[in-house]
Amino acid sequence: MRPIWLDKDCKTVKIIDQRRLPHEFVIADLKTADDVIRAIQEMYVRGAPLIGVTAAYGVYLALLNSPDNFVQECDRINAARPTAVNLTWAVSRMKTAILNAADKVETAHNEAAAIADWEALNCKKIGEYGLILIENIRQKKGNKPVNILTHCNAGWLACVEYGTATAPMYAAHEAGMDIHIWVDETRPLNQGARLTAWELSKAGIKHTVITDNAGGHLMQHGMVDMVIVGTDRTTYTGDVANKIGTYLKALAAKDNDIPFYVALPSSTFDWTLRDGVADIPIEERNPDEVRYVQGHDGTKISNILILPQNSPAANYAFDVTPARLVTGFITERGICTATEQDIRRLFPESEA
Ligand code: MRU
Repeated sequence: MRPIWLDKDCKTVKIIDQRRLPHEFVIADLKTADDVIRAIQEMYVRGAPLIGVTAAYGVYLALLNSPDNFVQECDRINAARPTAVNLTWAVSRMKTAILNAADKVETAHNEAAAIADWEALNCKKIGEYGLILIENIRQKKGNKPVNILTHCNAGWLACVEYGTATAPMYAAHEAGMDIHIWVDETRPLNQGARLTAWELSKAGIKHTVITDNAGGHLMQHGMVDMVIVGTDRTTYTGDVANKIGTYLKALAAKDNDIPFYVALPSSTFDWTLRDGVADIPIEERNPDEVRYVQGHDGTKISNILILPQNSPAANYAFDVTPARLVTGFITERGICTATEQDIRRLFPESEA
């Protein structure tokens, strides 16, 4: 199943409201650019590739509903969230296609669908390349189960199909390999505990949810064979912005000599930025996401205050893992190291 599709009326975009998972499966309708902006900002949809695809459909809806303000609507969609570069990439690809087209609405419709299909194919290829890495580890371990740690949710919910970080896991499972996934809960919004665990349990993949701080301990005790995470924006030099806490996992992996891979489609490379720590914009979200925890109380989804009433909280949503801590990238064109030279070897046509 895809997490986004256009309804038969061609005027309504259907999405899964990810805020309600795993407790409720709710499909929401987006009919205007405002609906799309709200869905991205309030994280009905989230994850870099899905943000891009939703934005592409948002541009299509903007053209349907307010053709005269189309360019301004694109700018508003583009500003919905700051870190995932797929948003800017998708809006700019849609704008270029539409501005050059005779039949603008039909072009917008086809281009948004093409972006969704392309991202799905990218994920499938990422799965095929990542499978080789898992197979190598399995052979080295003499057929013992391969333990993979992941952070946040870079699954099909975040990416149209298969996911990025999860694509090699799905491929390995389909190939009959014995794998087990350590799932970081990923505070504050718990995308790991809520979404990755939900996806893996639906697929019948063995997994265990752990607290965000448990990974280092597991690595020290030989319980993690590799780490695979997604990313929201990666510089052409190999610095990786991903969900807050990813950097600490990369440090622990380095200290324990555990391979740390980042899976991404080429739409997540930022060909304009050299220094990720200095220049990638890091989203700061509402501190209430830290102050409250969402869960199911037995009858309904509730938010529970966990801080003293007056304690301030801060909510940095992403961090940047420097290229030196990254073993390699799993992309739709194969695997490369986290260096400008090797990234450009796979994507020689890419420029700012
Ligand atoms: O704030 P989110 O849930 O949109 O952040 C998502 C992540 O950080 C994912 O790990 C990342 O986007 C990769 S999604 C393939």
